[in-house]
Amino acid sequence: MDNFEFVSPTRFIFGRGVENQAGVKLAERGAKKALLHYGGKSAIRSGLIDRVKASLDAAGVGYVELGGVRPNPEIGLVREGVALCKQQGVDWILAVGGGSVIDSAKGIALGAFYDGDVWDFFAEGKPAGEVLPIACVLTIPAAGSEASMNTVVSNDELQRKAGYGSDAIRPELAFMNPEITFTLPAYQTAAGATDMFAHLLERFFDETPAVPVTDNLNLSLMRTVRAEAPRVLAEPENYDARANIMWAGMLCHQGYAGCGRHEDWATHGLEHELSALNPAITHGAGLAVMFPAWMTYVHKENPERFAFYGREVFGLAPTGDADDDALNAIDATRSFFASLGMPTTLAELDVREDDIEKMIPTLQENQGGEFGSFKRLTMDDARAIYRLAL
Ligand code: NZQ
Ligand code: ZN
Repeated sequence: MDNFEFVSPTRFIFGRGVENQAGVKLAERGAKKALLHYGGKSAIRSGLIDRVKASLDAAGVGYVELGGVRPNPEIGLVREGVALCKQQGVDWILAVGGGSVIDSAKGIALGAFYDGDVWDFFAEGKPAGEVLPIACVLTIPAAGSEASMNTVVSNDELQRKAGYGSDAIRPELAFMNPEITFTLPAYQTAAGATDMFAHLLERFFDETPAVPVTDNLNLSLMRTVRAEAPRVLAEPENYDARANIMWAGMLCHQGYAGCGRHEDWATHGLEHELSALNPAITHGAGLAVMFPAWMTYVHKENPERFAFYGREVFGLAPTGDADDDALNAIDATRSFFASLGMPTTLAELDVREDDIEKMIPTLQENQGGEFGSFKRLTMDDARAIYRLAL
């Protein structure tokens, strides 16, 4: 088992109606003026923003609003949020939305006490200084940003999407009401389930030998996502199915499922270039295409690990040949994502062969050379994996 340091400071408030406690919980923590940060239309249309505002009003917590976060959030709005927090003396950020809104909030939190351009954190990996505390009302189980140490922000001008990680930006409060996710379109539900499954795959495949305590936790979550994702798609208003997938989404990415492992993260790196190239590409859909391609490319490094995964998650019978077992496990993964309605090729995402070279320079910049852990990948390997995904 590798050495590790892990902290998960988030307080989870889970269940029906919990968003109505946002005001009280912020007031208890001394919040005077929050930045209420949200996305496009969904949270306004559903009445969620009004309920959250009423809860802040009732608890005497003031707020300023900044809506309009798009999927694959952009640095421009983060900069606006930073300026607003500085002007208005904001002391807490309350993000109402999914990974994009929470990530945008994390960017704002990083920039709020910083004199330079907040993009510096993403471009240079600058250590976090003082940050604003973050609370979130989660509306889509997917990215796991409600408890993770990460934020991922796009810079359209540079055509770059860059991640940043620090325990300082883990949310302090996460309000998770599964009923809020009833309104999710099927595609977003499926992309969310794919993303959370991918967060487990990134942690399961690395060069560290078995870590049973972590592996068993991870495999149990994979089996849960595999069982619950079709259930939420078939019955979008099934509270228990939505609740299981929502809690799973958090557990998949807050960190427990990788403790003691090195983790891989090459496929997320490859996907982030797709959504930098075209912000209309949904992160989970990009992963559905890239994961089977990555698996196909790297499985020979350790086919037994793939065979083990296939047996444990998909119940595949051993064939007597580890390589065949590995390929069967990869097929099962691709079929699982396809069964949820996810794409299986880059062509379905409108990405063509001549786009590959456009992504390589920023991939190189983001990864700083070789990347991944299960197999160390060069830029030529990346080109080959993108080609396999075409
Ligand atoms: O903007 P609105 O109108 O709210 O619509 C959103 C958006 O179009 C919609 N939606 C959200 N909740 C809804 C809803 N529609 C109806 N009912 C609801 N209850 O769903 C769409 C997608 O939302 P978004 O926040 O973009 O989804 P997700 O949570 O998948 O976040 C994706 C972002 O997270 C990053 C991704 O790269 C991407 O930028 N990631 C962040 C990570 C982290 N911070 O730890 C890790 C991940 O690997 C990932 O990279
Ligand atoms: Zn992800």
